[in-house]
Amino acid sequence: MNILIIGSGGREHTLAWKIKQSPLCNTLFIAPGNAGTALCGTNLAIGVSDFDGIAKACRANAVDMILVGPEEPLVKGIYDFFRDKKGFENVKIIGPSKEASQLEGSKAFAKAFMNRHNIPTAAYGEFTADKYLEGVDYIKTQSLPIVLKADGLAAGKGVLICQSHLEATAEFELMLLRSKFGEAGKKVVIEEFLKGIELSIFVLTDGENYILLPEAKDYKRVGEADAGLNTGGMGAVSPLPFVTEEFLNKVKEKIIEPTIAGFKKDKLDYKGFVFIGLMNDGGEPKVIEYNCRMGDPETEVVIPRIKNDLVELLLATADQKLDEIKMETDPRAVATVVAVSGGYPGDYEKGKVINGLDHAALEDSIIFHSGTKQDGIHVVTNGGRVLAVTSYGDNIAEAVEMSNYIMEQLEFEGIYYRTDIGFEFKNG
Ligand code: AMP
Ligand code: GLY
Repeated sequence: MNILIIGSGGREHTLAWKIKQSPLCNTLFIAPGNAGTALCGTNLAIGVSDFDGIAKACRANAVDMILVGPEEPLVKGIYDFFRDKKGFENVKIIGPSKEASQLEGSKAFAKAFMNRHNIPTAAYGEFTADKYLEGVDYIKTQSLPIVLKADGLAAGKGVLICQSHLEATAEFELMLLRSKFGEAGKKVVIEEFLKGIELSIFVLTDGENYILLPEAKDYKRVGEADAGLNTGGMGAVSPLPFVTEEFLNKVKEKIIEPTIAGFKKDKLDYKGFVFIGLMNDGGEPKVIEYNCRMGDPETEVVIPRIKNDLVELLLATADQKLDEIKMETDPRAVATVVAVSGGYPGDYEKGKVINGLDHAALEDSIIFHSGTKQDGIHVVTNGGRVLAVTSYGDNIAEAVEMSNYIMEQLEFEGIYYRTDIGFEFKNG
């Protein structure tokens, strides 16, 4: 079959790398893709939310399946667009409906969903501008720190962790009354702060059944030892030594199963990946957030640990046959280290020539591209996160060491990466 992946990051390069290995995949397209995805298939110069452009390309290339990487087109309704479009009845779309994508697109929607289905999460209140004074009173009753969240998509910047009531009230005012996050902040969720260790759980569901994918932890802060500003993710590791069978059973029973049952009860059309951000507080899992897609850079460690044919998994998702799948995972540890442009997550320059890509690859490592593009004979930087180097190892420390070794051979002006990814699991 002919498959189209929507997106252009490290996540999409990893999906393309895996799908290309499947005998079920005939021709692979990526829209818009990057210099890395071009090594796995054909890039199409179409934006991720240009649904008409995507439809045209699907017709021209006899595409049988569309796999949606990022949240933006999902929240804008790409699933519904193709489900309802004449001539696309036989095209399989992997990703949730517009309504179901609200689990990521609206924090208030996600909180109400969790409350309705008794899924453990932080206590919260939601407020719009007309309830501003009630919100201020609510803040006064909260213990510190206080978490404020813009309801809508805010490019990963809409969550504030406030250390005083004064700060929380000031930020609340900026969000609600002074449009700090524009439309996204017209509604604000005020939430209890959850303690513990954060981790990411990934599920593939056909709306009826689900399979659990390997868990991961990502490293969001730009600096070593988790210092500095938040980024899209500076690295990730899998598996996590503290994720025991007992903990996973709790996650399944208290979180995943009620989530899938909730989709059915609420008639949410969901055939795709669910990314559940969890806090593990002394062995008790609580949901921080849902995302309606895979994570980036988590995909760069989760997918390489899956031994199954990914196209087979996606077909079973579309055909509601995930109950027939037996998951096989690679027992090795996998780590990815992300190289970013100098200045990221602040301002940075693009167009820097990347050297070392050809000779750096070794047997147990893969270089995934994030923000790159082909410019004549050169591959150049084209974003904040540029490359994600994934390696296998007998343990996390070994995998990270291998990625760091490869990283030393890669070079572009301003290159920066954290050398301490997986630092808490040095002995794991
Ligand atoms: P989100 O945009 O929902 O992923 O939130 C960004 C980050 O903020 C999360 O990955 C957590 O590290 C942190 N966070 C969000 N909500 C909470 C909470 N209730 N308690 C503690 N940390 C939180
Ligand atoms: N790495 C976090 C995300 O993909 O949202």
